[in-house]
Amino acid sequence: MTRQTRPTVPRHVAIIMDGNGRWATARHLPRVAGHSRGVDAVRAVIEQAGRRGVEYLTLFAFSSENWKRPQDEVSTLMRLFVNALQKEVGRLGENGVRMRVVGELAAFDSQLQSLIRDAERQTMHNSRLQLTICASYGGRWDIVQSVRSLIAAAADPRELARALTERQLAEHLGLAFAPDPDLLIRTGGEQRISNFLLWQCAYSELYFTHTLWPDFDAAAFDAALAWFATRERRFGQTSAQVSRSAAEQLRA
Ligand code: IPE
Ligand code: IPE
Ligand code: MG
Repeated sequence: MTRQTRPTVPRHVAIIMDGNGRWATARHLPRVAGHSRGVDAVRAVIEQAGRRGVEYLTLFAFSSENWKRPQDEVSTLMRLFVNALQKEVGRLGENGVRMRVVGELAAFDSQLQSLIRDAERQTMHNSRLQLTICASYGGRWDIVQSVRSLIAAAADPRELARALTERQLAEHLGLAFAPDPDLLIRTGGEQRISNFLLWQCAYSELYFTHTLWPDFDAAAFDAALAWFATRERRFGQTSAQVSRSAAEQLRA
């Protein structure tokens, strides 16, 4: 029997879902048609992540910078978000998915904010897959809000300035409940982070694919997992050190 020396399934997969607009433009459709097909891809990937034993799935749906898009595109994206919350939350429950939304939620209208709170409440006892939708989210925003909340809670801000640790800062980030992503996928062909999980992706494996988000299906997700399984994660150590500690773990 061969025994694995590396974890082959990532515990936490984060995805920058890019390419909806180009998918639509290539078909002479309005960009919004790409966003609505993008929702189908979200459904397929959530199901596949659950089947493959991924514990945390984090999806970048709308960035802090996406507010700068044309007003009608922003409104359509908000409408799709509302529809998805109204229609899909029951199905998430059936599949054992717990859903959270992380980002600057105060920027959303009150109907959307209350749908988000309801969806989080309705799914809070599920534990098969922890799904996080990052919306109105930016990695820089996340770090700043963490620092702000640390300062606000500090009895002695000077002592905080002297002794602040990475761990404390991480505990106030939006994804404090999750381990750092093992695998970051970006669809759509660009090779950039676009202000996604800046702190949390310090050691993530980065997978870029030209597949546009509406075409990203269960097989495409599996291809990313297969690539991940070939990576050696060294976290600053040498390859020999990593192999030795894996061998020691197997003997233990
Ligand atoms: C990603 O697709 C969805 C959002 C950013 C909301 P895009 O809308 O960025 O699609 P492209 O990159 O223009 O093709
Ligand atoms: C990143 O895509 C944000 C999301 C997928 C939500 P963008 O399309 O906004 O990224 P840039 O502007 O090309 O970097
Ligand atoms: Mg884009």
